[in-house]
Amino acid sequence: MKKILIIGATSAIAEATARRYAKKGSKLYLIARNGERLATLATDLKIRGASSVDTALLDVNERGSQGPVLEQATKTLGLIDVALIAHGTLGDQKGCEQDAEKALLEFETNAVSTLALLTRLATIFEKQHAGTIAVISSVAGDRGRPSNYVYGTAKAAITTFCEGLQARLFKSGVHVLIIKPGLVATPMTEGLSLPAMLVAEPDLVARDIVRAIEKRTDTLYTPWFWKYIMAIIIHIPTALFKKANL
Ligand SMILES: NC(=O)c1ccc[n+]([C@@H]2O[C@H](COP(=O)([O-])OP(=O)(O)OC[C@H]3O[C@@H](n4cnc5c(N)ncnc54)[C@H](OP(=O)(O)O)[C@@H]3O)[C@@H](O)[C@H]2O)c1
Repeated sequence: MKKILIIGATSAIAEATARRYAKKGSKLYLIARNGERLATLATDLKIRGASSVDTALLDVNERGSQGPVLEQATKTLGLIDVALIAHGTLGDQKGCEQDAEKALLEFETNAVSTLALLTRLATIFEKQHAGTIAVISSVAGDRGRPSNYVYGTAKAAITTFCEGLQARLFKSGVHVLIIKPGLVATPMTEGLSLPAMLVAEPDLVARDIVRAIEKRTDTLYTPWFWKYIMAIIIHIPTALFKKANL
């Protein structure tokens, strides 16, 4: 029976992933900031087959609370097989361009909180000598674009940090998975005008995440075709890219 810790557990992608682990009879520990949604999710996951579901409240930006919450999770689960970090916000890019504090708050939520959590989890997993730390980054971190470069910068920070962790924790037998979804139909993208052909359902992304954890993949593009889309985007010469208005 696997023991799974999920931070940002009420995110649509995290919920879909938790449902897949519940079906396998896993023991779940869910962390999020919305107590009501957390309680509803916990009930649903028990019905779906989870062997147990414990929960804890955390606003990830309250960094002083991260340590005690993770300590409690470790006490409850014992050895953690998988820790998934899934929280995030797709901030108002235009607003961030006009207001430095707003831009920094986006960076705080999407990068700083995650780097702090990763630092704490790395210590826990290094002692375990086993398990997977999985983090949802984004294809948006692969190249800065005018439409979302504040969010993209935060995701690039997560990706680079995790590349370092992959090499550090490899020596302790710990797997670090960097997850780069493309466009996914979740509350985060609701109301945006997106090319329907490129938008994936959260359950498909969850399937890919569970598989990548099992295979100990280093970097997952999900759905798969984003690997090729991003390979093209990364290689567009800057002189052309600046004019493309992506
Ligand atoms: N949807 C996409 O197209 C897409 C693409 C690439 C990457 N991603 C990434 O995928 C991950 C999951 O997002 P999603 O698409 O599933 O969106 P979502 O359903 O909107 O989930 C975002 C989650 O982040 C939580 N959150 C935000 N700020 C928080 C804070 N300060 N403390 C605690 N929790 C906080 C939200 O909690 P509340 O419900 O309480 O606000 C919510 O549960 C994110 O990291 C996102 O950046 C998404």
